[in-house]
Amino acid sequence: MKFFIDTADIAAIRELAQTGLLDGVTTNPSLVAKTGREFFEMLRDICAAVPGPVSAEVAAIESEAMIAEGRRLAEVADNITVKVPLTWEGLKACRALSGDGIMVNVTLCFSANQALLAAKAGATFVSPFVGRIDDIAYDGMELIAEIKTLFDNYDELTTQILVASVRSPNHVRQAALIGADVATIPPDVLRSLVKHPLTDIGLENFLKDWNRTGQTIL
Ligand code: E4P
Repeated sequence: MKFFIDTADIAAIRELAQTGLLDGVTTNPSLVAKTGREFFEMLRDICAAVPGPVSAEVAAIESEAMIAEGRRLAEVADNITVKVPLTWEGLKACRALSGDGIMVNVTLCFSANQALLAAKAGATFVSPFVGRIDDIAYDGMELIAEIKTLFDNYDELTTQILVASVRSPNHVRQAALIGADVATIPPDVLRSLVKHPLTDIGLENFLKDWNRTGQTIL
């Protein structure tokens, strides 16, 4: 499973890119607003920091305007993925931009039928929002499992399932068990994936014992 980082914070992106474990970045208008930065300058910095796909969302709601914005965003760097919302207008824009050879991420997906439409519109990625589904007392991971089954039924559906609105390490684990292609993970959740109390205790004890040997490796 690929790991994308779900933030527009360039410091966090650079820090986590150093692990060599980042395969891409997703941003959205709310994350961009949080940075207070100029959109295009921010995108250029992110695209330079991570070689994989960097999602940048259009602001228009009508397809022709989305297509124009998407083409403008795609000029920023080869790794830009244009994000469009899961509406009929967004699907039309997805079809046109994919036809131009531009990667498209169809976002705000909350049902298997919506994911099917995104795939038929030629999306590179479809983003089901698991956390927001959990928030209203439904099961976000059930949707991921449904979309996975649906896409596996048809060889011609090559759209990648990008699990979004990830809120916990458990979301990441479940997404991987289902076989989702990508999880986009907030920086704090990504950092927490490595944590286990038995790892910390085990390491502490190994180091104590090693020091008692009085030896060095280098
Ligand atoms: C990413 O593409 C989505 O915009 C993001 O994961 C949404 O997360 P949220 O539901 O925590 O805002």
